[in-house]
Amino acid sequence: MCGIVGIVGQTPVAPLIVDALKRLEYRGYDSAGVATVERGELSRRRAEGKLVNLERRLEAEPLSGTIGIGHTRWATHGVPNETNAHPHFADEVAVVHNGIIENFAELREELKRDGYVFQSQTDTEVVAHLISRELRGGAEPIEAAHNALKRLQGAFALAIMFKGDEDLIIGARNGPPLAVGHGQGEMYLGSDAIALAPFTNAITYLEDGDWAVVRRNKVQIFDIDGNPVKRQRQQSVGTSYLVDKGNHRHFMEKEIHEQPEVISHTLAHYLDFISGKTREMDLPFDFAKLDRLAISACGTAYLAGLISKYWFERYARLPVDIDIASEFRYREMPLAKNSAALFVSQSGETADTLASLRYCRSEGVPIGAIVNVRGSTIARESNVTLPTLAGPEIGVASTKAFTCQLSVLASLAVRAAAERGTIDEEEEKRLVRQLSEAPRFASQVLKLDGQIEKVARELAKVNHVLYLGRDTSYPLAMEGALKLKEISYIHAEGYAAGELKHGPIALIDENMPVIVIAPHDRIFEKTVSNMQEVAARGGRIILITDETGAKRAGIETFETIVLPDMPEFIAPIVYALPVQLLAYYTAVQMGTDVDQPRNLAKSVTVE
Ligand code: G6P
Repeated sequence: MCGIVGIVGQTPVAPLIVDALKRLEYRGYDSAGVATVERGELSRRRAEGKLVNLERRLEAEPLSGTIGIGHTRWATHGVPNETNAHPHFADEVAVVHNGIIENFAELREELKRDGYVFQSQTDTEVVAHLISRELRGGAEPIEAAHNALKRLQGAFALAIMFKGDEDLIIGARNGPPLAVGHGQGEMYLGSDAIALAPFTNAITYLEDGDWAVVRRNKVQIFDIDGNPVKRQRQQSVGTSYLVDKGNHRHFMEKEIHEQPEVISHTLAHYLDFISGKTREMDLPFDFAKLDRLAISACGTAYLAGLISKYWFERYARLPVDIDIASEFRYREMPLAKNSAALFVSQSGETADTLASLRYCRSEGVPIGAIVNVRGSTIARESNVTLPTLAGPEIGVASTKAFTCQLSVLASLAVRAAAERGTIDEEEEKRLVRQLSEAPRFASQVLKLDGQIEKVARELAKVNHVLYLGRDTSYPLAMEGALKLKEISYIHAEGYAAGELKHGPIALIDENMPVIVIAPHDRIFEKTVSNMQEVAARGGRIILITDETGAKRAGIETFETIVLPDMPEFIAPIVYALPVQLLAYYTAVQMGTDVDQPRNLAKSVTVE
């Protein structure tokens, strides 16, 4: 899930490449690099760490070439130092790569036997040497690249440049996305259309197995056998607007605060608040005829799917199989005859989610994709795209995309229930009305930030935190723990409150904060019993509940965060906000890099 860029331009391209890499930094920020061809020679600048380090390097030692490739790295093979930073060179070839070359060890041994010397620990360097060997054997650059591509197994998006040729970049895609941008006398390659947005909005997405010969005035695309293929040129939409933090300290804070608005936009896309019904969704299946629904996703998106299982099963009586995509893809799950599959992904590019989607497609199951990035691979490969209207999410830890995913899933659950006749018109209206109230409750909850910040100051002092919840608050407890881990680096676990006694209760002592997510719902009393068990062992309880719950809990807590009373159906959407704020303020208190936490990336296009 690195980001790659290539530009065959008219003026020095290094500043443009850095500009494009900034928009790809969400894909990784372990190191960055740029190479250009200057007076026929390959030159590069690379730097460990974030892009700003590369910018400083380029200020001190600029590059003047008008053709170049660039890379921002999320380390897979080899530590994130300058030697392992891309572009990688082999004599007359420069390569940037996103993905994993799975047969790199075998190829490296073969190349070593032929006398090739490796500088880095990366899998990418084999690509450069393979091409170099072809060139030495007498192949022309394009043929050399094509021959080398045929040897590669695994997932890759590549940009390849050659010494002595200032009008040629070769791009190749097998798995991770790669877009060609068409300019006036300039051509571009980028991991996504946003990277290229300031330069052009005329985009051609390469398909798996495609490779492209990119020159200033011409692009030719071929399949792996070398046959020319036609790929549609598209206008990329809405990608050119610049995303900034406004008055917020971090993108994450801004994105948390945007939620009332984006949840509202998303709900309005699926629900008609006037008639109290769901809108037409062009689904490739009929909910009434489904026996089962499979949902698969990764990370926070998976937890949104897990919450929706409760909704689909409760309201629509539709059994849901929910899986982490990295497990689903290899599980060889038998899919029921009358089943459909939903894939949830902010980026629409997550490799494991995409592989799960392809498994379902090969089994002939109709597919819906809930994605935030339109035009993404998952969106393009599904039968219907159900967009989340969260807008660009920049903070690596997902916040507004999560609540928008929940908004889409809740709308779908209502639709399913109506189509299956498990709710009547009145009940449908009631549920739609309840959803329409979620943005208002979300804005009220944001006003609790002062109290949440105070609690966060305490959390910042500990090494472990336990989150508990039942029913839809259980996946939310997992989401709370995930958020805290991701951005504050404090170890946290989310557990089903009823499962506490089967293990985690052993962890409870006066040093263990236990965050209990417990709206006053049908099983509130059960959660209270679990809190009693914690209190009896001296655990410090931070209770997130509503006014009724606060009155009825009858337990001495370390802190109680009181939300307004609200319908049970929408509670997970609204309760997500205090959970996110708690992680956010804790991370701020710890002084971590909130928007770009260590070791993570926003879009994970490797397994
Ligand atoms: C990464 C991100 C998470 C995200 C997950 C799934 O791990 O850091 O925030 O939840 O990928 O990403 P997706 O784009 O498929 O929602």
